[in-house]
Amino acid sequence: MRVAVLANLQKNAPTWPGMPADRWDDLDSEETIQAIIDALASGGHEATFLEGDLTLFETLPKLKPDICFNICEGHWGDSREAQVPAILEMLRVPYTASGPLTLALALDKPMTKRVLWYHSLPTPVFQTFERAHEPLDPDMAFPLFVKPSREGTGMGVTADSIVHNEAQLRAQLHRQFEIYDQPILVEHFIEGREVTVGMVGNLTTPVARRLPDDREARRISRGLHFFPPLEVDMSRYPAEEGGIYTSRIKTELVHTFHYLCPAPLPEETVQALNWLAAATFRVTGCFDVGRIDFRLDAHDNNKPYILEINPLPGLNPGYSDLPLEAQADGWSFEQLIIRILEEAIERYDLEESDPRPA
Ligand SMILES: Nc1ncnc2c1ncn2[C@@H]1O[C@H](COP(=O)(O)OP(=O)(O)O)[C@@H](O)[C@H]1O
Ligand SMILES: [Mg+2]
Repeated sequence: MRVAVLANLQKNAPTWPGMPADRWDDLDSEETIQAIIDALASGGHEATFLEGDLTLFETLPKLKPDICFNICEGHWGDSREAQVPAILEMLRVPYTASGPLTLALALDKPMTKRVLWYHSLPTPVFQTFERAHEPLDPDMAFPLFVKPSREGTGMGVTADSIVHNEAQLRAQLHRQFEIYDQPILVEHFIEGREVTVGMVGNLTTPVARRLPDDREARRISRGLHFFPPLEVDMSRYPAEEGGIYTSRIKTELVHTFHYLCPAPLPEETVQALNWLAAATFRVTGCFDVGRIDFRLDAHDNNKPYILEINPLPGLNPGYSDLPLEAQADGWSFEQLIIRILEEAIERYDLEESDPRPA
C-alpha cells in the first residue's frame, strides 16, 4: 500500500527567543521516522514522510496515500494531538491509531482521570490548579506530586515534583505555572515501582460501555495483544532523580535507558495490569496501539495505579518503551510497525485493490 508517515519532526518545529528548552521534547527524530519508513518498506509498502502540519491539505491530495501512519504530536493548542486525525477525517484518508476524541482526551491528564474515576479504575486522588494559591482539597494528603496537565515525555517532571508540605507545593506550582501555560495537576504521590504496559490490537466487544463487573481478563481484552510489562530500573539512576521517571531520564539519559523487561512480577500482577490496561484502552476508546503507565504502591501491597494512557506511544526502535517491550516478546521493530498498520487496515476494511471513495 501507499503509506504516508505523518509526524512532527523536532528539527522542523518553530523556535523563538526565550523558548523553554524542553518545548519540543515530545516530537520525533529523523532516526525514528526513517526506522518506521524502513519497517513499512520491509512489509512491501511504499512509505513517504510528510510533516504533520497545515501543508497536509496540499501534500496529501498530491501523494494520495491509501492510509497514513500517524504519530503527530502537534505544535499548538490544548488538543494538538487531535488536529492531524481531524484533518485526515476531513480529507477522508484512513489512518493508524486513535481518533481525535481519544487523542485530545489522553493529552489532558485530569480529564482522562475523570473518565477513569467514573469507571472506578484506580488512579491517584487528584486536584487541578489554575492558580498557585488555590486552597488544597481536604483529601489531598502529602506527599503529593506536581506535573503539567497536558505534556508528555516527562516535561515538568523532576525530583522536585514530589512535595512534602504546603511551602514546597506552592513553590512547585509557581515554578510550573511560569513555564507551562496550562492547569497544573497535583496527585497523591505513589511511592513504588514504575511499570508500563503496551499493547496492539482492537477490542472486538463494544467499547465505551460500562465495564463488566467480573474481572475475567478475556472478556474485556479480546482482540488485544499485550506485551510484557517494562519496569524502569530506578536503582540504576542517580539519587537526584528521586526514583521517578524524570524529564532528564527521558531525554538526556535516554541512550543509557535502564529497564527490566519482562518486569519481574508475579503472573497474577501481570494479569491484573493487563486487565487495567485493557479497561483503560476501552473506556478511552483507543484504536490499534496504546501504552499505559502505572505505579505500584509500595505501601499498599503493590496496588497498581494508572498514571496515564499514551495512545501515541514513542516508537524509537532503540529506546522507546513500546518497541523494547515488543522486542522482549520476540517481535522485531518491523513486526510491531506492520502490526499497527494492519490493525488499521482491518479496522477500515481496506483491501490492497479497493478504490477509496471519492
Ligand atoms: N502520582 C504520581 N506518583 C508518583 N510518581 C508519579 C506520579 N505521577 C507521575 N509520576 C512520575 O512521573 C513520571 C511521568 O508522569 P506521567 O504522568 O507518566 O507523564 P509523562 O506524560 O511525562 O510520561 C511517571 O512515569 C512517574 O515516574
Ligand atoms: Mg508517562
